[in-house]
Amino acid sequence: MLRIKEVGSNIIFHLSNNCVSYIIEVIDGHFVVKRYLGIKIPYFKGSNELDKGHHAFSVYSGNDEFSATNLPLEYSFSQNGDYRITGCSILNKKRMPLLFPNYIGFNQDKNIPTLPHIRASQGTFLNLIFEDQNTHLRITLHYCLLDNSPSIVRWVSFNNKGKSIVHLCKAASLELNLSNSDWSYLTFHGTHANEFVPSFCRINDGIQGIVSTRGASSPQYQPFMALVDKNFNLTSGRFIACHLIWSGDFKFNIEKDQYDSISLIAGINNENFDYILNPDQKFTTPQVLVVFNDGGLANLSKNFQQIYSKYLIQNRITDPLITLNTWEMSYFKVNEEVCLKAIKNAKKVNANLLVVDDGWFVNRNSEKGQLGDWKVDREKFPNGLRKVSDLAHKNKIKFGLWVEPEMGTVSSQLFKKHNDWILGLNKKSPLLLSRNQLVLDLSKLEVQKYLIRILSTLIKENKLDYLKWDFNRQLAPVFSQNINSQRQGEVSYRYVIGLYHILQELRKEFPKLIIENCASGGGRLDPGMLFYTDQTWVSDLTDAVARFRIISNLATLYPLEVFSSHLSKSPNDQDGRLLSLETRLTLSMMGSFGIEMDINSLSEADIQKVKKCVECFKEHFEILHNGYCLPLTPLRKNIEKPISVLLGNQKKNIIWVVYSYGITSAVHVPKYLPLRYLDKGEYKLNGIKYSSEELNCAGITVKPVIGDFKVHTWYLKRI
Ligand code: GLA
Repeated sequence: MLRIKEVGSNIIFHLSNNCVSYIIEVIDGHFVVKRYLGIKIPYFKGSNELDKGHHAFSVYSGNDEFSATNLPLEYSFSQNGDYRITGCSILNKKRMPLLFPNYIGFNQDKNIPTLPHIRASQGTFLNLIFEDQNTHLRITLHYCLLDNSPSIVRWVSFNNKGKSIVHLCKAASLELNLSNSDWSYLTFHGTHANEFVPSFCRINDGIQGIVSTRGASSPQYQPFMALVDKNFNLTSGRFIACHLIWSGDFKFNIEKDQYDSISLIAGINNENFDYILNPDQKFTTPQVLVVFNDGGLANLSKNFQQIYSKYLIQNRITDPLITLNTWEMSYFKVNEEVCLKAIKNAKKVNANLLVVDDGWFVNRNSEKGQLGDWKVDREKFPNGLRKVSDLAHKNKIKFGLWVEPEMGTVSSQLFKKHNDWILGLNKKSPLLLSRNQLVLDLSKLEVQKYLIRILSTLIKENKLDYLKWDFNRQLAPVFSQNINSQRQGEVSYRYVIGLYHILQELRKEFPKLIIENCASGGGRLDPGMLFYTDQTWVSDLTDAVARFRIISNLATLYPLEVFSSHLSKSPNDQDGRLLSLETRLTLSMMGSFGIEMDINSLSEADIQKVKKCVECFKEHFEILHNGYCLPLTPLRKNIEKPISVLLGNQKKNIIWVVYSYGITSAVHVPKYLPLRYLDKGEYKLNGIKYSSEELNCAGITVKPVIGDFKVHTWYLKRI
């Protein structure tokens, strides 16, 4: 709902749904300020008066009653007298900054961006429009308050209505100014095989933040930042959590200024960014989802999981999909024989998807092998992939393939023919390799067309049901041979647009194709990729306990349906950890279950355990894949301490509790685990009926065990 009130020359916009209010005021025809965000208030009279800002060093324009210097602005322009970090920086063709665009009106149109977005058809939409008198650049602040949810989506668009170019040197999606509260902030960082490590920091005076200059969202930082109050814990504490729906470079900054006010800016990274907007051209920033609520980590997780399941992901996995992937089974030694054996094994345990991972194409026998041509290796597959695909389909098993489309190697035909398609190539500079490979210039339309063509052919010729889309290096240097020198500041942005375009076209042509997002594991797990893909390979670390830490932290933002986790060998190939088959199976069932090992190395009894686990996964798919996942222990940086989650589904009456003990202890006393989140009612556990109150508050008994990294689960049935 939107209510609008005019107060003198100012206008107040009050957006509200059944739980929250978000109130904006446009002052003096150009300052757009936040008056309130939080639980729903029935009407707004302005009890929280704004500071006029008549302080030493404040900057004013004309007859303005207020100064930009310390208003809680919704979007501010650099060099306009707001000396804090600002949302945008715009220059005209003479590089003169834009000063105070005028408010020219509002509308409630549902402007659905072409970039990945929250697919909200319902909600309260508001667009506030400003125009600069000199350049005639039109700037629109977009808002969409979701129904029944404490969350708002924000983004900004720029439309050049003038006759000359303008430079967008910074164009953030979100600016949030808050006065003197006691906030800390939560972010996630990590690296390959150790993704999603939480970090709680207090906000220091001055500027701090996270950034990606890698051309991808990256495992190093998630494009996410939440302000959390000092009492934030599992089930209590306020938060304002911001997640950028974007897969490229990004920046999140916080500044605490001299008045203890806080500014948070989030958007594409402005480092090396200079987007030149021609007359009649439009630029739209990615969206930011802002969730503001209390109820601690549990509510943060619940809100994000619900929004992404409902409004972002269009998951094509409607029935249980149990993968058999060749990677850790045979690495680069994959061939027809391996695949035919894998089909037999899939039948033994009732898996229903065979994925041929890396190594299936010409000259690819190691990481040094060739990328870019995507021609099947006839020595490994004398009958082509089609023979394997047909046999899989005959056995009612889906067929999938690994690709890394964005890459090329010097050894490829592609490189020989089109070295102008390589990003950052310059005859006089050294080639910057990573995993021996180079990145294609996806900002170039011809490259996009080539990839769409080559991928479509692969999909059609081999009747693919699934594609694992990998991305094993990041961008450097970001220089396009195909764009003139003035426009190099657009390349990083255009690369991501190119990637989205390819995915979009494939989605159109192959609506049922399942795409798994992968970047050496979860290196590009972000809401932008979630918009196009169905599931994500969360980590190359297939050690089940270590991956459980990653998944339980990922559930802060993402629903279970996104994660794919596979049973692997013990000792584990990455860290050598020895884990029992039971532990490995239990912890591989969250999200999409799969197998990444040769099950012929198991005893017949163990193969039966795998088969039973597949059955269990199928039976409880609505919980293990489509359900919610709530934290019973705090976010963890490592696996020494216990990690526990509660899984459930609103439509089902079953609850699954998973508990990973961590490192063993010689102190053999029981612990008690309050289940916290059970809906009111009675639940049966091991044949005994308990009230939800008892289980939520007194908790269940966690008996001591001997040995490292044991796992225990409990099934509860609601009566
Ligand atoms: C990445 C992926 C792995 C595997 C290899 C193949 O590391 O994350 O799962 O596909 O590439 O090279």
